[in-house]
Amino acid sequence: MAEFKEAPADAGAAQKLLNWVDNRFPLSKLYNEHVGQYYAPKNFNFWYIFGSLALVVLVIQIVTGIFLVMHYKPDANLAFASVEYIMRDVPWGWLIRYMHSTGASAFFIVVYLHMFRGLLYGSYRKPRELVWIFGCAIFLCLMAEAFFGYLLPWGQMSYWGAQVIVNLFAAVPFIGPDLALLIRGDYVVSDATLNRFFSFHVIAIPLVLLGLVVAHIIALHEVGSNNPDGVEIKATPGPKGYPLDGIPFHPYYTVHDIFGLSIFLMVFTAIVFFAPEFGGYFLEYNNFIPADPLKTPPHIAPVWYFTPYYSMLRATTDQMVNVLVVVIGLGAVLSVLKGGFGAKGKLAVVVGALIAAALLKTFDAKFWGVVVMGGAVVILFFLPWLDRSPAKSIRYRPSWHMYLYGVFVVFFFVLGYLGIQAPSPIGELVSQVGTLFYFGFFLLMPWWSRLGTFKPVPQRVVFTAH
Ligand code: HEM
Repeated sequence: MAEFKEAPADAGAAQKLLNWVDNRFPLSKLYNEHVGQYYAPKNFNFWYIFGSLALVVLVIQIVTGIFLVMHYKPDANLAFASVEYIMRDVPWGWLIRYMHSTGASAFFIVVYLHMFRGLLYGSYRKPRELVWIFGCAIFLCLMAEAFFGYLLPWGQMSYWGAQVIVNLFAAVPFIGPDLALLIRGDYVVSDATLNRFFSFHVIAIPLVLLGLVVAHIIALHEVGSNNPDGVEIKATPGPKGYPLDGIPFHPYYTVHDIFGLSIFLMVFTAIVFFAPEFGGYFLEYNNFIPADPLKTPPHIAPVWYFTPYYSMLRATTDQMVNVLVVVIGLGAVLSVLKGGFGAKGKLAVVVGALIAAALLKTFDAKFWGVVVMGGAVVILFFLPWLDRSPAKSIRYRPSWHMYLYGVFVVFFFVLGYLGIQAPSPIGELVSQVGTLFYFGFFLLMPWWSRLGTFKPVPQRVVFTAH
């Protein structure tokens, strides 16, 4: 047990109270470790604002969610009307609801930017692998949270979107139909489905999400933040033991984050007050029509943040499966010819490729579409081990790496755009190319990330005060 410390004789009431608490709970210790004396690199740029913004959006979602639940009814006969009641009759209900619906999209915008920063500066590399893995788990939870939440207003899009996505699970070989039944709790999306989605949305997933966010930040503060130079600041400690290139989080980065937050809130409130539907992207027009199990809308598309993955799902046709078989065959031939492994290794490659090709042709393309969609997120978990570049940050990598990232972002946007559109032959072709690029980017990373002329990485961070 830690020794009790007496407050100084001239201490004020507040200091005495803090001293009383500190003797029983490590309040000051926690504050100092995570804020006051958390030394962060001095060269953070605007990319480093999105972590704090994600925390703020998380709080907005939880607080507005609590108030929505006070008036919402998770019942297939009442849900749609209870949302309308919130919008029209509950004092400030419209504001709470629009903050929550805009918050959902804002969460994804902020988190996508936050993840892209990680990609730019190699923040997932050693020793931050766990920070990244917790982040990827958070991303999965966010997707589940958004999916479950979208059913709750019980509009046409809620209903049919859930129908389409849950049916995907039915494509899993052997257990698929039972799995879909288990998720829905019924043979079609129904009141039972609404009840369980409500339960997952308001308690199960938020609990896991909160736990993961705490783990994410504890892991980050254990190893310390990366920075735009990708230089480990802990490697150069000053005379007092703090990193020479570090500055205390408070006040330097609290001010930095408050500035970022004020800009964010301007944009956020502008959307909430002036364009809450955001042209049908944040709240789809079809969702203002009550769910009708007898009337399928002509075009069902998920909300924008899921559409890149939805495009990948739609891209996985029988033809695409054939292309994948050819790609696997070519990959196997290349690695047998060029790979530096012995006869046993070569045999393993050939057998592996044959099994993969046989599996691809055995199961339905729809199932592989689900695998591709899930794989697009799961592959992110492996990023720390896929990237073999000698430099963490994009700043010291060959300039063509930056163009490659650029093409990746463009394809991601194109896939997102195509996922919103009705299917078309040209759209299908482009999304197939985009899907191949997406997976090629990650799967070939161990090879391409080492190529090119790297700039020398400095010992200390590069920073000019502004
Ligand atoms: C609810 C969602 C999330 C919250 C609240 C959150 C919060 C934070 C905070 C506060 C930081 C420190 C400040 C900063 O570096 O921006 C951080 C850093 C980081 N986050 Fe997240 N995060 C979330 C989701 C994610 C996701 C989805 C990923 C990746 C898949 C991720 C990966 C990282 C990485 C790699 C760092 C370290 C960055 C560096 O030091 O350069 N985070 N996060």
